Amino acid sequence: MSNILVTGGTGYIGSHTAIELIKAGHEVLIIDDLSNSTIESLDRIEKLSGKRPIFEQFKLRDSAKVDDFFEEYDIDAIIHFAAYKAVGESVAHPMMYYKNNLVSLANVVDAMTTSKVKNIVFSSSATVYGQPDVLPATEETPVVPAESPYGNTKQIGEQMLIDQTIATENFNAIALRYFNPIGAHESGENGELPTGTPNNLMPFITQTAIGLRDELKIFGDDYNTPDGTAVRDYIHVVDIAKAHVKAIERMIGGKSESQFEIFNLGTGKGFSVKEVIDSFEKTTGEKLNYSVAPRRGGDVEQIYASTDKANKVLGWKAELSLDEMTLSAWKWEKYLASKK
Ligand code: WQD
Repeated sequence: MSNILVTGGTGYIGSHTAIELIKAGHEVLIIDDLSNSTIESLDRIEKLSGKRPIFEQFKLRDSAKVDDFFEEYDIDAIIHFAAYKAVGESVAHPMMYYKNNLVSLANVVDAMTTSKVKNIVFSSSATVYGQPDVLPATEETPVVPAESPYGNTKQIGEQMLIDQTIATENFNAIALRYFNPIGAHESGENGELPTGTPNNLMPFITQTAIGLRDELKIFGDDYNTPDGTAVRDYIHVVDIAKAHVKAIERMIGGKSESQFEIFNLGTGKGFSVKEVIDSFEKTTGEKLNYSVAPRRGGDVEQIYASTDKANKVLGWKAELSLDEMTLSAWKWEKYLASKK
């Protein structure tokens, strides 16, 4: 049992990870500024895991508050989710993203050094790969110039951690590069809470089906893919959460093979937008209202992960199917509607 600080732990992936950490016997502490989540997330974590994490609300950009937290609590390791993550918003407000995402990480790493906390899991993203020439994308697939300030903060964040491992012997980091996390807790009582109009496909599908949106627009059906719509490696958020438990336990258990390791988190299978819609209609029985629109700027045609390294080295493999992802997302949307 270890004391794990989860920054951004009331958010979508953070809250599911907090649940899995507690189920695995760890103590969870959460720092979150609630800029993209609500305090009710703690109630959901407590209900679904049986334990309420220690929680403090403040911005990680406030280094004094970060240092005070590390002095007050005994922390064994960190999982760092806290970041702004809307691609389009980052293009409109780049400095907001660089200040928030990078200064927050730097303050956490500084506090780790002072408090001699030596292990951190970093929430990274497959956007670092852009559109790979060769698929599936492995951890050695070249990282390309980011398409957005958001994606750039992930690339710079990884480099910051690499630089810290070079500067500090007792500092280990694992970067987990997520492909497309979707879905919700099997109970349907925890899930993604997008603020405002969703950017991402899955919440837009469920909000259209529940009647919050008129119709889903498919951004392009003229890609060079089997049905013309873009392909992504969708992965259940609970599978992502379980990978974080594996990663933090790997470092705490001294099993890291180097101070900085990278793992792709995907299923290894790509699904098109149309296939996600078909799965949703099949699992829910709902007929989705959609039409085809022009491609969205910045979208890649297709990307999916090589899962060999995560399977063989991390000892983790995605278990949940696309149908389980789409059905769980729908259960969560219906749960939200029942709470209104
Ligand atoms: C998936 C597919 C769209 C909405 C982004 C970030 C990534 C991560 C996940 C944070 C694409 C299509 C979407 C819609 C559509 N975010 N789509 N109609 O763009 O692959 O990845 O979100 O960590 O970092 O880059 O995910 O869900 O936005 O899009 O047709 O209304 O669905 O064109 O092909 P994306 P997405």
